[in-house]
Parts: sequence; C-alpha cells; structure tokens
Amino acid sequence: MSLYQQTYRRWQQDPESFWVEAAAELHWDAPFHTAHQGDRWFLGGHINTCYNALDRHVENGRAEQTALIYDSPLDQKLQKFSYAELLIKVAGLAGKLRELGVGKGDRVLIYMPMVPETLMAMLACARLGAIHSVVFGGFASQELAARIQDAQPKLILTASCGLEPKGTVEYQPLLERALLHQADIPIMVLERPQCSWDFRAGQHRWSEGQPVACVPTLATDPLYILYTSGTTGIPKGIVRDHGGHSVALKWSMQHIYNIRPGEVFWAASDMGWAVGHSYIVYGPLLHGCTTVLFEGKPVGTPDAGEFWRVIEEHRVVSLFTAPTAFRAIKREDPEGTFLNPRDLSHFRALFLAGERLDPDTYHWARQLLQKPVVDHWWQTETGWPVASTCLGLGEEPKQPGSPGKTVPGYRVEILDEQGQRLPAGREGAVVLKLPLPPGNSPTLWNQDEKYHQVYLSQFPGYYNTGDGGYLAEDGHLFIMGRLDDVIIVAGHNLSTGSLEEALAGHPAVAECAVFAIQDDFKGQLPMGMVVLKTGQQDTPQLHQELVQRVRDEVGAIACLKQVLVVQRLPKTRSGKILRAALRKLADGVEFPIPPTIEDAGVIEELRDQLRPYRRR
Ligand code: COA
Ligand code: AMP
Repeated sequence: MSLYQQTYRRWQQDPESFWVEAAAELHWDAPFHTAHQGDRWFLGGHINTCYNALDRHVENGRAEQTALIYDSPLDQKLQKFSYAELLIKVAGLAGKLRELGVGKGDRVLIYMPMVPETLMAMLACARLGAIHSVVFGGFASQELAARIQDAQPKLILTASCGLEPKGTVEYQPLLERALLHQADIPIMVLERPQCSWDFRAGQHRWSEGQPVACVPTLATDPLYILYTSGTTGIPKGIVRDHGGHSVALKWSMQHIYNIRPGEVFWAASDMGWAVGHSYIVYGPLLHGCTTVLFEGKPVGTPDAGEFWRVIEEHRVVSLFTAPTAFRAIKREDPEGTFLNPRDLSHFRALFLAGERLDPDTYHWARQLLQKPVVDHWWQTETGWPVASTCLGLGEEPKQPGSPGKTVPGYRVEILDEQGQRLPAGREGAVVLKLPLPPGNSPTLWNQDEKYHQVYLSQFPGYYNTGDGGYLAEDGHLFIMGRLDDVIIVAGHNLSTGSLEEALAGHPAVAECAVFAIQDDFKGQLPMGMVVLKTGQQDTPQLHQELVQRVRDEVGAIACLKQVLVVQRLPKTRSGKILRAALRKLADGVEFPIPPTIEDAGVIEELRDQLRPYRRR
C-alpha cells in the first residue's frame, strides 16, 4: 500500500485523531476540549493564527530567516522581510488599528493591491482577533459596495492605487463611489508614489502604532471573511476560523505541496482570492517558509521569462498559479526560449488550480520544466485542496486532465439528480460527504440559512460543490465544469448575477442574461445578451456603454467584451431565464428543448445569432 493510501486509510479509520495529531504541530494557548462537533473543529481551544505565523517562528530560531519577499516588476521594487522584521511591522500595525478603535470581532475591510502592507494588515487583524475581509483590487464599486454592506467594517484599509501594466488604477474614486451611503467609515490609506490621495475628514495616513501582543482567540473564532461569487449578484461571505484553518493549511503545505519549513514557496495569485489567502499568506508562514509576493504578470512585465526569473532569483521550490498564466507564457514563448538561460535545478514542482487545466498546457509545461505538474482542485469555500496528487505522500501525477485523487480529510462522491450514488465513470454532481475537515467554511457570514440552502439542502448529508464530474475506477477525479451560473474567467470566479445587474442598470435595457462562452485562452468569457426597451436602438455606442458599465461596476477583470442585442430571451413559463440553454447554444452542444420553456421558437432564433461566437 502506498503512503498516500495508508494515510487516506488512517484518516478514514479515525478522522478525529488524524486531525488532533495535525493540530499538535501548532502552538495552542489552551488545549481544546472537543476535537470535533458538527461543523466545528477544536472547540474550546485557544489559538491565534498570527502568533503561529510569526511569533512562534521568531521564538523558535527563524527570526533571521526571510519570511516575505516582495518582488514587483510593476513598481521596480524588491524588498525582503525576516520573520523578526515582519513581526515588528505587524505588531505595530495592529497597535495602530487598535488606536483606530478596532477590537476583537470587528471587521476590517482591506481593499489593497499586491504590496507587503496588505499581508501585514491581514496578520495585524489576526493578531487583534479582528476579522479581515480582503476585496480583490480588480473589483470596482458595485462589488466593493456589496461587500462593505455585508461585512459592516469598523475600518477600511486601502491604498492610493494598484499597478497594472497599462498604468495605475486609482482606488479613491472606486471606494468613494462604493461608500456613497456609508461615508462615515474611517479609512487608513497607504499612499503610493505613483498616485496621491485626497485626504478628507476621517481618513488617516498609513502608519504604525505601539506594538501589541496577540489577543487570545478561540479556535472557532472567525479569522476572515472572503466573498465569493454565487449565482446571484449578492456575494457569499465565506468564513474561516483560527484553529481548523491553521491546522489544515499547515498539513497541506507538507503533505500535498511537499514543502519543508525554511523553503521558498510562491503562489502567483492575488491576496484578494482564496489562493492568495491560503498560499501567499497563511500556509507558507504557518509552515515557517519564505513566501513570495509578486506584483506583476506572467507576460508583459516585462516578458514571458518573468516567472523563470523569480523562480531562479529567489530559489523558489514550488510555484502555484492558474492554468491561464501558463497559457499566456506558452502563447508568447512556445519554445520556452526564456527558460534556457535560467537555472531551475532547485525547482521541484508546478501546481495549477482555479480552472480546468487543458492537457495541451499540461504537456507543454511538463515537457518544458521536466518536473511534476500538479493539477489540483478546490474552491474558496474549502480553503485548501480537495483533490490533488499529494507529492508529500509520495504520489506522482499520472493522469493529465484529472486534478488527482481525493485528499485525506475528504470523501468525494458523485450523485445523480435524485441523490443516488453513481458508479465509477458516470458523470454527476460532485459532492463531499459531511462532516468536512478543518479549514472549510462552516457557514456564510450572517447567513447560516443561506449556507444550508446553497450547499447542504440538495443532497442531505453532503456538501454540494456545484461542480459536475466523475470518479474513475482508480480514484482519479475528473471535473467537467460548474453546474450553476458561476463562470470562471482566467481562474477568477465571477457571478453572472453581478454582471447582469450592471447591464440591467443601463437605461436602454429591458432585460438581460449573462452566460459563459468557451475561450481557448481564459477558459471562459462572459457574454451579455440584452433585450432593449421599446424605441431603443441597437447602436455601436450602446455596445460601448454596456461594456463600460460592466468595467465601472464590476471591474475590468470581468472581461465582458461581447453584448448581443436580441428580441427575446429563452424563459420558462414562470419567467426564469434558461441560462443553461444559452450556454449550450453558445458552445454548439445539442440538447433537448427544456419542457418548461415558454416558447421553443426562441431557441432556433438564438442558435443562429450565437453561431458566429461558437468555438466549435
Ligand atoms: N486591479 C485592477 N485591474 C485589474 C487587476 C487588479 N488587481 N487585475 C486585472 N485587472 C484588469 C486588467 O488590467 C485588465 O484590464 P483591461 O481590460 O483594461 O486590459 C482586465 O482586468 C483583465 O485582466 P486579466 O484577466 O489579468 O487579463 P490580461 O489580458 O490583462 O492578462 C493574464 C492575462 C494571463 C496575464 C492574466 O489573466 C493572469 O495573470 N492570469 C492568471 C490568473 C490568476 O492568477 N488567477 C488567480 C487564481 S489562482
Ligand atoms: P474559486 O472558488 O474561485 O476557487 O473557484 C472554484 C471553482 O473553480 C471550482 O468549483 C471549479 O469549478 C473550478 N476549479 C478549481 N480548480 C479546478 C481544477 N483544477 N480543474 C477544474 N476546475 C477547477
């Protein structure tokens, strides 16, 4: 039996003691009295994530080790912080937050770019027992406003701008628009040299205060809220706790990613996404690694050799990014000429997740790097991988097209619509048997009932991932895509509901639908379909305005560039838009006309209109 099989079996036989053993790797201020109850882990235990990510290492011989490397080709900056230096910064920042009135349980919204202060702010909140909610800097006002509305922060931390290859993205207008009805929330601003901030009353310059020690927190206390896209325009606030989250991430660093404390790990993502939370900030630091914070792109900053430079220069042993990043490098440098002069002998593995890894890109990367390329699958809600090739348990990737086998801690099953288990090879809903392991979101912020309704109600006893797929005879999982209206653009999860809200706000639009079309580069792209109000004209200017609205409200990251004006949308008799039918029409997939459709004629009309946009 392989080490992976032995470990999986050990977990299966006694999940509780499996995780109790993993918990012993961390510092507990007071032990837990109950390892597991319902959807909670380590009840009664006292543990502070910031203590475990910083203080513990400083006290145990890692004070001088580099904790953070900030490498920004966009800002032409390279900065390194040892664990001791990072601790001083974080303790001082926590002191400042306390001065500004932030205490345990308060929410702090962080709308910031890829700079060290963002990571410091997250850890400073953890230190105080405050709950951070990071909003990706690429989101515009509507998305930001929805998150502020839900999290009700005591303080907002922001910067004057983000840096993109095309120039600066000024945050002040975006934030002020989002705050129209809540202008009284205090703000602390990091002014970057590229862009100034017009300070108003209640707005503070970034500074540090008197250093403070870690506040005792329960393992079950919330560490952060991270909003993810649902099928509606209202984002879902995923909640992560201090205890289970730390235990799961530390375990994953060793057993999935095969990283040893002291090594350099790089997740080329953004701190606004789950990947950034788990594998730029918390995972590597909890494990005593050096983490790389990269403010740049895989191509164009300045070229397709940038990832190889960072890996060589900082002695990165493993890189984690989205397949789109590698498709971008492949497109610009198919022969891998930028890699030739680089010494990557220390590099051990490439991890890809966030969207489907197409076999072409897998083979290209494998061939070029001559190192394992690991496709793995998880979601914001789980916080760490559900399926992977566990390199730390002696496995090697064997099946291109599959994100590997189920990770110990999870039991993946495939169900049909009636909730019956399907045999190997049959496609259905991918679900996780309850209870979920530590680190998974036990609820939605302020919305226990919605959590139940979205994830637990369809298949009692299971968590519904929203993905479709199948399990092969040998245990490899295959993910075929979302079963709901969430779309994944370049590894970014977007809600069609938000995009529709933005389009529907245009005065000429009577109703609209947004759905995904397949794209060879970004995986999926959103397409808008609008029905105009009587008397409104379909003009190039209208198209421009609609595209601009989405950029202004949701953000350029949505990449909505196509809008089709149609006479009517396919709907059920009760008025529900049949988005699944639109998706299939756009992809050129044959499907039976839904029996609930109001007027089947619309399908043929739209099939013709969508034909030019089809990939196949
Ligand atoms: N702040 C503000 N704007 C942002 C932004 C941010 N943090 N991130 C992206 N944008 C903007 C971009 O400037 C671009 O604007 P434009 O339409 O005016 O050109 C738009 O959003 C789309 O961005 P992006 O998806 O990054 O597309 P791109 O064509 O500029 O770059 C890649 C292509 C491949 C370089 C990029 O998609 C990439 O790095 N993908 C990897 C994805 C990833 O890391 N996912 C994280 C999950 S692991
Ligand atoms: P997010 O919550 O943004 O991380 O998105 C999670 C979703 O991305 C999953 O539910 C999947 O639909 C998709 N996804 C993530 N990783 C993979 C992968 N390795 N292969 C296919 N789809 C993936």
